Amino acid sequence: MEKFFFISVFLLPYVITTFAFPLSTDSRWIVDDGNKGRRVKLTCVNWPSHLETAVAEGLSKQSLDSIAEKIVSMGFNCVRLTWPLYLATDESFSDIMTVRQSLRKFRLLEAVSGFQTHNPTILDLPLIKAFQEVVSCLGKHRVMVILDNHISQPGWCCSDNDGNGFFGDKHLNPQVWIKGLKKMASMFANVSSNVVGMCLRNELRGPKQNIKDWYTYMRKGAEAVHSMNPDVLVIVSGLNYATDLSFLRDRPFEVSFRRKLVFEIHWYGFWNSLEGDNLNKICGKETEKMMKMSGFLLEKGVPLFVSEFGIDQRGNNANDNKFLSCFMALAADLDLDWSLWTLAGSYYIREKTIGTDETYGVLDWNWSSIRNSTILQMISAIQSPFQGLMETQPKKIMFHPSTGLCIVRKSLFQLKLGSCNRSESWKLSSHRVLSLTEEKILCLKAYEDGKSVKLRLFFSDSYCSKWKLLSDSKMQLSSITKNGVSICLDVDSNNNNIVTNSCKCLLGNSSCDPRSQWFKLVTSTRRRSKPKPFLQISPYSKTSTF
Ligand SMILES: *[C@@H]1O[C@H](CO)[C@@H](O)[C@H](O)[C@H]1NC(C)=O
Ligand SMILES: *[C@@H]1O[C@H](CO)[C@@H](O)[C@H](O)[C@H]1NC(C)=O
Ligand SMILES: *[C@@H]1O[C@H](CO)[C@@H](O)[C@H](O)[C@H]1NC(C)=O
Ligand SMILES: *[C@@H]1O[C@H](CO)[C@@H](O)[C@H](O)[C@H]1NC(C)=O
Ligand SMILES: *[C@@H]1O[C@H](CO)[C@@H](O)[C@H](O)[C@H]1NC(C)=O
Repeated sequence: MEKFFFISVFLLPYVITTFAFPLSTDSRWIVDDGNKGRRVKLTCVNWPSHLETAVAEGLSKQSLDSIAEKIVSMGFNCVRLTWPLYLATDESFSDIMTVRQSLRKFRLLEAVSGFQTHNPTILDLPLIKAFQEVVSCLGKHRVMVILDNHISQPGWCCSDNDGNGFFGDKHLNPQVWIKGLKKMASMFANVSSNVVGMCLRNELRGPKQNIKDWYTYMRKGAEAVHSMNPDVLVIVSGLNYATDLSFLRDRPFEVSFRRKLVFEIHWYGFWNSLEGDNLNKICGKETEKMMKMSGFLLEKGVPLFVSEFGIDQRGNNANDNKFLSCFMALAADLDLDWSLWTLAGSYYIREKTIGTDETYGVLDWNWSSIRNSTILQMISAIQSPFQGLMETQPKKIMFHPSTGLCIVRKSLFQLKLGSCNRSESWKLSSHRVLSLTEEKILCLKAYEDGKSVKLRLFFSDSYCSKWKLLSDSKMQLSSITKNGVSICLDVDSNNNNIVTNSCKCLLGNSSCDPRSQWFKLVTSTRRRSKPKPFLQISPYSKTSTF
């Protein structure tokens, strides 16, 4: 394996947690089969295997084992593995054509020779056997797999008129689809317990889509999967490219089985229509829209899986970067289960282009190193659950979505950004005082514009600043200094100290970036990996365990 992975910040001692399968649901959470039903947070990465060749991408660049190792070392616990329907329904294709033949069909001679080097034992397997090898290798590395029927004929997805969008389209015959789902579900039943879920169909869309047929066919698909493999979670997506489940508000989705149903949505930052607008406003609006279209399900106790989100990993797409911060705030707040698009650093062939670079890929073109470890580190903040695993009293932590860090102690009275595992927990009282929950006698006090905030002994409310959440994003914590100046909590970019500055972007257009001032008060039951409380000896002790 590449050296890079060993020096990478992601080789913090990650703990491989073993879950008892099969998974099921308990209110909005996905839980394991242990006697306590421990929460399992899906933190997946999408691994495409539905493109032209119908072979899991990347195997001409790295061995299957080493890709599985990378997935684990990057902190993902699961893969959403995509498959084209015809891989399960067209036996002349899936059972007869080998990987080598499929690559040759597209004249991918370099890929054939790469396969020869990295995965010689897979090269001459029939396509379906190669697919099973991928699942079983992931199982060996204790990576959970969610099978996603991404499209019907192998190829890049998705557009309104590609014939794969909705039931009745040229390539989406409901009977064939049901047959394929059953075949795939039974193939892994009683065999690979790491196949924990199946997404029925990716991104329904196009002119034919309608709610009535959605209920009819998705119900049939759900029952078909469950009948062949009652162990898997049945994962159901909505309309309009998996963004709309709002119709579930009026009419429930009824199935014959219990505790196996999960809904899925996709969320990307394609915010072009809002370009030029104020980021606080855009994030506020998009969050509200997401809650209206699908997030409300969580409030009703129904599990929801964000099975695709992602950004350009080159880090130079301003819209994507803004989206990620906004997404991170909500993902932490709701403690979502999710799957990042995408693992793939490149494709054998995509839409006629050989060796297409995937700029949304966490791995680079060679599938050897992490494309952008800054971005991955940010995302790692939401890889462990905030809730439902560690049984401690729920508390609020102050999460900084644009870095994936949280407010932690720097010294007795000073604060900085640091790992959320070391986060202080806070209480915002009805008198708008922010105090620590463990060392209750300390509250947050703002001084002048541009200066550090400090913890202060809390003899009465008047010793503390009064805080409120401002702006359309509701993520700016503001207070008023003794000179009557309105200021917001911020981060000093030089040393990560928590300071106050004048509030950014309450008005104004997209040229203004408020993200350093975004803080989300996130509910957490994580046990704090803590140094001893600062105030354990006497309130005036300067002893610091840092
Ligand atoms: C899995 O095993 C169960 C119990 O032995 C059996 O009833 C079922 O038919 C099997 N499923 C498949 C798809 O082989
Ligand atoms: C945003 O506002 C600034 C200052 O008011 C102005 O100079 C700039 O042209 C505006 N930019 C956009 C994209 O509207
Ligand atoms: C990674 O992304 C960040 C922005 O999030 C960007 O500043 C940086 O240049 C990117 N690094 C690489 C190696 O692409
Ligand atoms: C891929 O790896 C090869 C061999 O290490 C290297 O020569 C090449 O520059 C890499 N290509 C890219 C695009 O990273
Ligand atoms: C934070 O804690 C979680 C749960 O104990 C653990 O899995 C994770 O590795 C920790 N992260 C860091 C950065 O220490």
